[in-house]
Amino acid sequence: MVNNAIVFKIDGVEVRGKPGQTIMHAADEAGIYIPRLCDVEGLEPQGSCRVCTVKINGRTAAACTQPVAPGIEVENDTLEIRNCRRDIVRMLFHEGNHLCPCCEASGRCELQALGYRLGILQPDKYPYLQPVRPVDASHPDIMLDTNRCIRCGRCIRASRHMDHKNVFGYIGRGINKQVGVNGKNLAQTNVHIDDHAVAPGICPVGCIIQKRRGFYDPVGQRRFDLHPIGTEIEKTPKGIKK
Ligand code: SF4
Ligand code: SF4
Ligand code: FES
Repeated sequence: MVNNAIVFKIDGVEVRGKPGQTIMHAADEAGIYIPRLCDVEGLEPQGSCRVCTVKINGRTAAACTQPVAPGIEVENDTLEIRNCRRDIVRMLFHEGNHLCPCCEASGRCELQALGYRLGILQPDKYPYLQPVRPVDASHPDIMLDTNRCIRCGRCIRASRHMDHKNVFGYIGRGINKQVGVNGKNLAQTNVHIDDHAVAPGICPVGCIIQKRRGFYDPVGQRRFDLHPIGTEIEKTPKGIKK
C-alpha cells in the first residue's frame, strides 16, 4: 500500500492517485486513457481544449487540471462523454483547414489520430469555416502553417517554460485568435531548430513543421499507423496494481 494514496474510481475501476496529482495523470498510471490535445507530458496543463472532459460525481471537469480526491466516481469512456469529445474534435476540424492526405503531419498528428479513435471518418456535422490564415515560411529550418493550428498552446508553454524565450504567443481574439510569433515573422525571432517548442511531438498537428524533415516515416510506419493514439497507456493493466 502506497502512503497517502487517494483511491477513487474511473468507469467503476479502482484507481490510486497521489495528493495533488491530476485525474489524467493518475489514469495514465492506471492504464486508462483519457483523450487529450492541449496536454502533453512535460508541460504544465492548460485545460483549454476540453477533449479530456470527464464527469466527476455527475459534473463535467477537465481531467488534465482536476486533482484526484478520495472516493470520487469519474466517468470517462461513456457514450455521453464520447459524443461530447467527438463534437469538440469535429469542431477543431471544421474551424481550421485540414487536408490530411497532403499534410506532413499525417500519421503522427494527434488531431487526426483522435478523429480515427473516436470514429469520425467524415467530419460533416458542421459547416466548414475555411479560414485563410498566414503560412510563415520565412525561417530557414521551421515553417508555421496556422491554418492547421488548434490553439493548444503547447508551443507557447514549451517556448516560455523550457526554452525561456517566449517565441510563440496568442494573437487576436475569439474566432480570430491564433498563434503568432514575437517578431515580424519566424525568421525575425530567436527561435532555433533545437528549441523544445519546435521539436516533433510538441505541436500535436501539422502547424509547426521542421523543414527538410517532411514525410520522414513511410506510410505504415508512422507513429499512429503502428499504435492508435492512447494504446501506449492502455498497455498497462487497468486499475490498482496489487
Ligand atoms: S494537422 Fe492533422 S488533421 Fe490537420 S491536415 Fe494535418 S494531419 Fe490532418
Ligand atoms: S502551433 Fe501547434 S503547438 Fe502551437 S498552439 Fe498551434 S497547434 Fe498548438
Ligand atoms: S487535455 Fe485537458 S483540457 Fe485539453
